Amino acid sequence: MPKKQKYYITTPIYYVNDKPHIGHAYTTVVGDVLARWKRQNGFDVFYLTGTDEHGSKVAAAAQAENKSPQKFCDEIAEIYKIKWQNLNISNDYFIRTTDKDHIERVKQIFSQLKNGQTPKGNDVIYKDNYQGLYCTGCEKFLTEKELVNGQCPDHNKKPEALKEKNYFFRLSDYKEIIREKIANDEFQILPVSRKNEALSLLDFVDDFSVSRESVAWGIELPFDQTQKSYVWVDALSNYITALGYPSDLKLFKKFWPVDVHLMAQDILKFHTIYWPAMLIALGLPLPKSEYIHGFFTIDGQKMGKSRGNVIDPDELVSKYGVDATRYLLLSQFSFGQEADIRVERFPEKYNADLANGLGNLVARVTTLIEKNKLKIIIKQGGDTKLKKEFDQKMSNYRFDEALKILWAELRKCDEIITNTQPWKITDHEELKKILAPIAQDLLNVADLLQPFMPQTAEKIIKILTADKIKKAQALFPRI
Ligand code: MSP
Repeated sequence: MPKKQKYYITTPIYYVNDKPHIGHAYTTVVGDVLARWKRQNGFDVFYLTGTDEHGSKVAAAAQAENKSPQKFCDEIAEIYKIKWQNLNISNDYFIRTTDKDHIERVKQIFSQLKNGQTPKGNDVIYKDNYQGLYCTGCEKFLTEKELVNGQCPDHNKKPEALKEKNYFFRLSDYKEIIREKIANDEFQILPVSRKNEALSLLDFVDDFSVSRESVAWGIELPFDQTQKSYVWVDALSNYITALGYPSDLKLFKKFWPVDVHLMAQDILKFHTIYWPAMLIALGLPLPKSEYIHGFFTIDGQKMGKSRGNVIDPDELVSKYGVDATRYLLLSQFSFGQEADIRVERFPEKYNADLANGLGNLVARVTTLIEKNKLKIIIKQGGDTKLKKEFDQKMSNYRFDEALKILWAELRKCDEIITNTQPWKITDHEELKKILAPIAQDLLNVADLLQPFMPQTAEKIIKILTADKIKKAQALFPRI
């Protein structure tokens, strides 16, 4: 048997200072759709997600609830896991940065960096004084230029003036190599607008601090007890520690380099500049690609606790069901774009595409087949023209268009039924001639729909491939 091709895909690991909302759910569902699509096409997939649990922001959130940071993290990490189950996320592993293995491995990574040399022959990390304006919300230092009225524009808070001894990563020695690898797509950043953004950012980045003196909730550096790992070094490392690096290389050898890191633009700098620099310093290959999607707003507003417009994915799941939620999130706008989610449009879209669309068609077709006791034999799978068109959209991360292709097929079936009025036909052979190709089309659509709507697809496939096709229960009750 030929060896299966591998596919490694990740989401960001989410901060536990907040509960998961549909922003996090969005990236995680996209990752899941890709993971399932690749598995369906025979790839050996490793889909990773998890939680980012160290740093002052998380410690402050724990304190606000009068809990120890560890207890607080345990609780929120559990909530993440449950919500991802409710969305039917098929991750192969869930990493937490407070996992013992991860902590040990980050320490080993630090030792390697400490002992390593840059391509220009300098120490990779060095100790120096640091003075700067730190925003805990962002978990990063801001420059004066980035402030608006003296405040961090993302968190509307004045950053703290910090002065302390830190270890620094000599990013300056890596900038040219990174620029080259991004420019020639050896390290591919998608979409192209984000690649250009990363390239221009390279001009403005300096050596960055990789440790903190004043932070208590973090991983202690193995060679300096006064220092904790900067939360981003700890966090980025998850993509390799989850595979066992550096202590257990079996999975790592199989799956690294990652095929795609998914994220939104808020964390572009860390992933397109700091992360490749760290990897080069460790002597490791760079990610094959990163896909950086836009932030979406909710009814025109940034999502935030203070605005009271944070949507819990469970809210959608209980109203529409898992598969419909996945569909509604991915069919609304084209992946990658900054967009606005109009929640008030969900019911309309649900009814049009799912209740009256897919659900109704399956019900009509199976009712006619059962009523007339037709024996219809159709085949699952195969390289249809539909699959080719669909796969091409999927390869280009055009999820909304991939779905549109399937819905166009459903509409065609609907039209044939409207035009031929099979409910008026009594001749079984004639009926079969109309309904068999429609049933086959439906089966083809259901097959391709699996990554997006796993449960629905499975139900439809089961009904249509049964010895005797029976009328289907309503897949999507009207709302
Ligand atoms: N912990 C860091 C990531 C470390 S990865 C090594 C972090 N966490 S986060 O909880 O803030 O998650 C940010 C990510 O959540 C975004 O990059 C995106 O994937 C997702 N989103 C959060 N809100 C979102 C929107 N409103 N719109 C789209 N995606 C959103 O940053």
